Amino acid sequence: MKRFLILMLLCITVIMLVAGCVPEKPVKDGKGELAVTIDREFTTPATHSPLEWWQTHHPTVINSGDIKEQDCLYCHQVDRSCNNCHGYVGVRKIK
Ligand code: HEC
Ligand code: HEC
Repeated sequence: MKRFLILMLLCITVIMLVAGCVPEKPVKDGKGELAVTIDREFTTPATHSPLEWWQTHHPTVINSGDIKEQDCLYCHQVDRSCNNCHGYVGVRKIK
């Protein structure tokens, strides 16, 4: 019986993986529609370091007026590296 249950669980997991039921997340250099990609010709500005800090604090920096939103778009394309993540987390779209 136990073995049967384990087999069932395994089957369900495999089916979910194949069917793509595992939700896609916006991952940098990831795959799929939500992947966050930035053109390679650009180097990472100092404001982005450490990147984990920047991921959570970029709104504060922009809202405080230190950096203008438009300045980000010099390197970032809104569809590929702002709004795919914003759509996922439910933040307003950048224009
Ligand atoms: C000089 C070019 C440049 C500018 C200007 C710039 N970025 Fe970036 N940004 C990058 C690069 C390159 C990366 C990738 C960093 C890495 O791979 O470590 C990145 C990464 C990010 C990430 C992380 C994405 C992820 O999925 O982890 C966020 C968020 C981000 N930038 C937001 C902004 C915002 C907001 C601004 C404007 C205030 C901005 N960037 C301005 C080049 C830039
Ligand atoms: C990896 C995910 C991710 C990426 C990529 C990303 N953001 Fe964000 N952004 C967020 C999250 C999460 C918040 C909300 C944070 C909070 O409310 O504490 C946010 C909030 C913001 C806000 C504040 C919105 C408001 O209404 O106050 C601005 C402005 C902003 N992001 C600009 C940008 C720009 C410009 C880019 C592209 C250059 C970008 N973000 C890329 C995750 C991301």
